[in-house]
Amino acid sequence: MFDPNKFIEECIEQLGRTIDGKTIIACSGGVDSTVATVLVSKAIGERLLTVYVDTGLMRKGESSDVDDMLTELSVNHKIVDASEEFFESLRGIVDPEMKRKIIGEKFIRVFEREAKAFGAKYLVQGTIAPDWIESGGGLRDTIKSHHNVGGLPETMDITLVEPLRDLYKDEVRKVARALSIRFSERQPFPGPALAIRILGAVTPEAAELVREANAIVEEELQAAAEKGEMELPWQYFAVLLPVKSVGVQGDIRAYGKTIVVRAVDSIDGMTANYTKIPHEVLERISTRISNALKDRVNRVLYDITNKPPATIEWE
Ligand code: XMP
Repeated sequence: MFDPNKFIEECIEQLGRTIDGKTIIACSGGVDSTVATVLVSKAIGERLLTVYVDTGLMRKGESSDVDDMLTELSVNHKIVDASEEFFESLRGIVDPEMKRKIIGEKFIRVFEREAKAFGAKYLVQGTIAPDWIESGGGLRDTIKSHHNVGGLPETMDITLVEPLRDLYKDEVRKVARALSIRFSERQPFPGPALAIRILGAVTPEAAELVREANAIVEEELQAAAEKGEMELPWQYFAVLLPVKSVGVQGDIRAYGKTIVVRAVDSIDGMTANYTKIPHEVLERISTRISNALKDRVNRVLYDITNKPPATIEWE
């Protein structure tokens, strides 16, 4: 039986014993990276610098929530606003795999700058067991010298620390709860963030539309679950389509984009069933999105496709 308190105690002790220099971590606010951040922070304090990169593609209020959470947990951290750089490098890109590649590379370059400026000798990653088992890794040590870690250049000679490498997701959540991390129950959110929920070109305006619609989807579904109208789905969000259609706003013809509501139930994301959201809840979502994004969006659709044949994300 996994004992989160015992794990926390032993992990902090081991990290404190083995990390003898400046250390850096990129914290996305996801459960894994946040738990890794807090454990290392408890072990080495100010010698850890936690970097949160704001790509401009985060959910509504997400960057300030992460900032507040890290402050509450007394973690030495820095919020890096790199949104202009990200939008610039994504300009005109519509291919989903290109978006992923550009975002991944940009992220590494921003993080590399921070690691160099801080003089980091160690790099912490929130890798958990399924991450490396699925990618075919064999037995590894928790702390291991790497010359090319997570895409950082070989010249950096940084040592990788993976305190969660033997844990499974449910165990990480138990550790998160034991550490009083309030993000312990967050739904999955993809690394490329809202960029893969904006079909077509990623612009600040498109990000703003999908961000607003997504906040409404989250709020309405959470409210419906609290009222007992439905269970909260495993994952739920909004997608922006570049498809334009005709609508009416008052007496005037409107020509606006399309928002898709996506909600699925799943165990591990490998397969998924679309959630049977009650129609009254869907209607509330549709009305709120249409009002909030008047003139820009005039049609709200619900995706009723399972995985397979579809994927959960649209890109
Ligand atoms: P798909 O769309 O492949 O998604 O059915 C399965 C789960 O994985 C998430 N996802 C990603 N997570 N980087 C990530 O970190 C990605 O590029 C990525 N693409 C999809 C998705 O949100 C879902 O939970």
